[in-house]
Amino acid sequence: MSRIAYVNGRYLPRASACVSVEDRGFQFADGVYEVCEVRAGRLVDERRHMARLERSLNELRMAQPMTLAALGVVLRETVWRNRVRDGIVYVQITRGAARRDFPFPVGAKSTLVVTARSNDAARLNQLAAEGIAVVTVPDIRWGRVDIKSVALLPNVLAKQHARDEGAREAWLVDEGGRITEGASSTAWIVASDGRLVTHPLGSDILPGITRSVVIEVIKTLGLAFEERAFTVEEAYAAREAFITSASQIVLPVVRIDGRPVGNGVPGLITTSLRRDYHRYAEIG
Ligand code: PDD
Repeated sequence: MSRIAYVNGRYLPRASACVSVEDRGFQFADGVYEVCEVRAGRLVDERRHMARLERSLNELRMAQPMTLAALGVVLRETVWRNRVRDGIVYVQITRGAARRDFPFPVGAKSTLVVTARSNDAARLNQLAAEGIAVVTVPDIRWGRVDIKSVALLPNVLAKQHARDEGAREAWLVDEGGRITEGASSTAWIVASDGRLVTHPLGSDILPGITRSVVIEVIKTLGLAFEERAFTVEEAYAAREAFITSASQIVLPVVRIDGRPVGNGVPGLITTSLRRDYHRYAEIG
């Protein structure tokens, strides 16, 4: 079955779906995106993802190509046309196509692209059972990574470094030796004192949707939790570690820079957060 992509009002076979060579997403990374989990054919946490998309657009003074309700229809249609049951739907909006010039173009129409794809469920389950390795790298990103922009070159380089080192994810480290987040996920530890710890919101991390739901789960279960930056040294000494993202939900981290986390197998808290996650997420 050929894959279908939505591009500016049309559903097209992916091979023939295209945007202009003058698209500002292509030329300046002048665009934003969202990735939403699809589970049993339904969107997970659509409301929160759409709210973050709206915020990213507003922060960059970029026009919203259609209402969020209309966009919800396009997301579902794209999921359906691609026969995705469990996977992700991806939406990207750029400032549109215009003669290459740095300032915002006058009168350009924003570009909207939506794609969807299935997960490799067996692979994800295997990763959840075995845990993943992460390596730390300097966080060299710009000062507004709270905006979910498609300018992801530092993330690409960090992720490739991780892969070259045999790890699945890179944890980004600020100048003070503190971990901000993963290259494409939120970073968490269960510290040596038993508290769950993740970096506070601010301009230096993406406000993860999975992060916000996991915090609700933690609070409901009454687990000890602190929103604060943690150092690489603390991560090495942690009882458990894990990452969260829409495409992976909760994945245990069992090695950091080659050192085992705890006893080197997925931790109990991590495993229960993964198991319970969808009881708390909004599925629509
Ligand atoms: N990545 N931090 C970064 C830098 C991310 O790119 C992501 C998501 C997250 C987790 O956010 P959420 O829980 O809302 O997915 C944190 C997506 C999945 C991606 O780029 O594919």
